[in-house]
Amino acid sequence: MKYMVDSADVRAIKKINEYYPISGVTTNPSLVFEAGRDLKTLIREIREIIGPEKMLHVQTLSLKAKDIVAEAGRIVDFAGPNTYVKIPVTPEGMKAIMAVKAQGIGVTATAIFTPQQALMAATAGADFVAPYINRLDNIAVNGVEIAGQIADLLRTAGSPCEVLAASFNNIEQIHMTSLHGVGVVTISPKMFEKIIYHPLTDIAVEDFVAKGKDLYNI
Ligand code: G3P
Repeated sequence: MKYMVDSADVRAIKKINEYYPISGVTTNPSLVFEAGRDLKTLIREIREIIGPEKMLHVQTLSLKAKDIVAEAGRIVDFAGPNTYVKIPVTPEGMKAIMAVKAQGIGVTATAIFTPQQALMAATAGADFVAPYINRLDNIAVNGVEIAGQIADLLRTAGSPCEVLAASFNNIEQIHMTSLHGVGVVTISPKMFEKIIYHPLTDIAVEDFVAKGKDLYNI
């Protein structure tokens, strides 16, 4: 499983990057709004933290294809190597995905709620497709199943496009998503703390320390 952190909180990203094996960072305009920081400054700081090797997914805000394409070019200029431009799967977004890919820029098709949106975006050349698990669950559609269907469709088609599942509100959604053959998840900093927590682990560690503390003279 590839884990990404879904955040624009520089301090939280720094911590998660130190403690967990992340493949990169995803952001969106709502997260940037929460951070209340200028996008370019923020993205440069995040790139500084994660280095040039890890992925950074930055969303465009424009609505018209030609503006999305121009924005994508500006984003990769300041976000550096291994940047993927996130483009919502509107008709203008779909047109932009093809044009942005033609320029050799990585693309993550985002705001995906149906398997057909994902299949179309993958056919347009997107490197990643991002279904929103919790937002689907919130409208009584099983988000995990949708993500699983997308993963199956892409596998059957032999597509190189990867499913990058987003929007999680609990660990069960993440677990079920991994069971459904999805290879990448992007999760909030808080979710990283929760995902490996188990009280029995803490109890086991306390017991090991109590028993070994006078004998481990190393
Ligand atoms: O990048 C999309 C993802 O952040 C959406 O998550 O929690 O706002 O549904 P959420």
